[in-house]
Amino acid sequence: MVNSQFDTTVAVYELSMAEMPFREHIEAHSLLKAVGDLHGLSVLDLSCGSGLYARRLRTAGAAQVVGVDESEAMIDHARQREEQEELGIRYVAGNAAEPIPGMDGRFDVVTAVYVLPHAPTKDVLEGMCATARRALRPDGGRFVAATLNPDFATDPQW
Ligand SMILES: C[S@@+](CC[C@H](N)C(=O)[O-])C[C@H]1O[C@@H](n2cnc3c(N)ncnc32)[C@H](O)[C@@H]1O
Repeated sequence: MVNSQFDTTVAVYELSMAEMPFREHIEAHSLLKAVGDLHGLSVLDLSCGSGLYARRLRTAGAAQVVGVDESEAMIDHARQREEQEELGIRYVAGNAAEPIPGMDGRFDVVTAVYVLPHAPTKDVLEGMCATARRALRPDGGRFVAATLNPDFATDPQW
């Protein structure tokens, strides 16, 4: 667990699906379509943040969902939501770019929403992808990532 720039943005991410229509109608729609039918499957959500997608993936039919994030505040928030809603999601504090104990070979699907673009170096990016690959079952699975278009602009009108 590390102090993360994201520790202070829990509420922003928690509300972002409702406040930013593109998240719901373009991003979530596309991501869930790419993930496919989740019934009976186990899913690892790398960089789960406040747990938005972990909860969504579970209610979409996933049998088991584990969320991992390095931000203590994000994980605390996600666990509090879990206490209130009891979806059976497990939240683990950890660095997605390094091996995470107990995760290897257990998952049918790995998701990573807006974390690959935050990798500060190529080594970290490769570490995140390696974590995803190790987490998938040895006979395969699906790694679905939402990234940012390289032309993404931070202008308020974007
Ligand atoms: C842009 S937020 C997205 C959160 C969530 N996936 C969502 O869609 O709302 C990026 C998240 O990645 C997490 N993160 C960044 N680098 C990480 C790393 N190396 N390991 C684990 N989590 C990381 C941050 O703590 C933050 O919660």
